Amino acid sequence: MNLLQRKEDSDYRAAMGQLLVLYTQVDRLIMEACAERIASAPDEEAKLGLAKQVGDESRHVNIQREWMKKFGSSQAPIISKQQEATILDHFRQLDWRDFLADMYLCVEALGSDAVEQVVPLVDPGTKESLRIPLQDELDHIAFGVNRMKQELSHMASAEREAFLSRIPERIQTLNQSFHAMGVNVRVLFEAVGADYDELCKSVLQRKDEVLKEVSKPLAA
Ligand SMILES: [Fe+2]
Ligand SMILES: [Fe+2]
Repeated sequence: MNLLQRKEDSDYRAAMGQLLVLYTQVDRLIMEACAERIASAPDEEAKLGLAKQVGDESRHVNIQREWMKKFGSSQAPIISKQQEATILDHFRQLDWRDFLADMYLCVEALGSDAVEQVVPLVDPGTKESLRIPLQDELDHIAFGVNRMKQELSHMASAEREAFLSRIPERIQTLNQSFHAMGVNVRVLFEAVGADYDELCKSVLQRKDEVLKEVSKPLAA
């Protein structure tokens, strides 16, 4: 291995390591926000769905922590304790509909789209560590989309339109607060070989798809 390759390899490891820490911290926060939500969830089906997700996210945190140990990069947190508290507080204050929008349409659907974009570029061990988590995220998104459709089906059409039209704004606000936390995601994604502008394009496209999906009526 020449010096340049070694430098590239260490840049890759450092950046991938940070992305793994970030993903694990986000999963850990989702676990906690969903656990807190069980008590006030509107019905039994929602409680069971949230509880399943809490178990899934806990499993993801374990899988990823085990992998990070083997991967050998720094496990120093990217999101500070204070920032974590602010994020949990945000989710705590949302009513059920806004919780569904922020948690499932934004964090779960768009977050996992960003992760999926890097999967083809990563080393085999990291790829394997993401396999089960990404599979489960599909379940979580399906739960959120389905519950969102239920909510929309109870709204009068003007309320429904107003609610749907506010979702892109909610996503933008969350995205801005994420960037304001000071994590330079562009640098991290580029260091693992991703085209960051393409990645953003894909996430935006995913946003349109998921919005279209929730706007469709519930299957009978
Ligand atoms: Fe997860
Ligand atoms: Fe999830």
